[in-house]
Amino acid sequence: MPLSAKGLVISNQQVGRDLWEMEFLAPGMAAESKPGQFVHIRVGDDHDPLLRRPLSLYDVDQNLGSITLLYKIAGRGTNLLSKFEADQLLDVMGPLGRGFTLVEGRRVILVGGGVGIAPLLFLARELQVRQNEVTVLYGGSSSDEMCSLDRFVNLGAGIMAATLDGSAGFRGLVTDMMKKSIDPLSIDYFYTCGPEPMMAAVAEYAVQYGLAGEVSLEEYMACGVGACLGCARKLKASDNAYVKICKDGPVFPMDAVELR
Ligand SMILES: Cc1cc2nc3c(=O)[nH]c(=O)nc-3n(C[C@H](O)[C@H](O)[C@H](O)COP(=O)(O)OP(=O)(O)OC[C@H]3O[C@@H](n4cnc5c(N)ncnc54)[C@H](O)[C@@H]3O)c2cc1C
Ligand code: FES
Repeated sequence: MPLSAKGLVISNQQVGRDLWEMEFLAPGMAAESKPGQFVHIRVGDDHDPLLRRPLSLYDVDQNLGSITLLYKIAGRGTNLLSKFEADQLLDVMGPLGRGFTLVEGRRVILVGGGVGIAPLLFLARELQVRQNEVTVLYGGSSSDEMCSLDRFVNLGAGIMAATLDGSAGFRGLVTDMMKKSIDPLSIDYFYTCGPEPMMAAVAEYAVQYGLAGEVSLEEYMACGVGACLGCARKLKASDNAYVKICKDGPVFPMDAVELR
């Protein structure tokens, strides 16, 4: 059940170009959290900006009762968030939405592009606990826009990086690296989050080999709890019904979505 809390900020620091990591204490929320869900944050003191900002659960420490976020400064809201300091209180709602299915004992590939890597760390942690063989493919424009490699390594997951400028790992698109280096016959399940063209390439590859997986979608959000239709979207052009990304998602089966 979503909770509304005042999270106590433990740290908020820059970890890459325009990339920040914030950890806050919210034990009740941390205990309820599942990979792929998100929190909805009021970033200002008053009602400006009016709307909360949705951010994925990057990592959760259920022993400590803390939640960590990874966010990219995109505009005013995320810029205000970066001004928070340790010991300040954060007005946060969550965990919200439907997260990833947690498979067990399988060989899984996680493909993250840019800050789309955010929901994949907590996912990798929970998949490792369930005896999966986890390989993470992380794509970015440049190494200074990537920050989580050591965190995945510390979990024991395999990690491969691709950068457009060749400053880390494979030079080129993460999906080209996937096609060159991953044997589809050695994979059982895909998870992906990032720009839709990247997720479309992952889904196309999975479908080509008859493999299943899940995608995490982003839409503009207002209420974040299914009450305003602000995030409504048809998953396929031929669908009659709209889904609410905040409540029915943000995670959906790959074959249920036409990515654009
Ligand atoms: C479920 C969900 C999880 C998310 N998780 C993360 C995360 O873990 N880390 C992270 O950095 N970002 C994440 N985002 C995106 C993040 O919510 C937006 O970048 C943020 O709300 C922008 O707020 P702002 O006030 O800084 O920028 P604004 O001034 O509101 O917008 C700046 C730019 O960002 C674009 N933008 C704003 N909101 C969205 C959105 N929802 N989807 C796509 N583009 C948007 C705008 O078109 C504009 O170009 C997530 C979004 C959703 C829906
Ligand atoms: S943001 Fe209001 S219904 Fe999804």
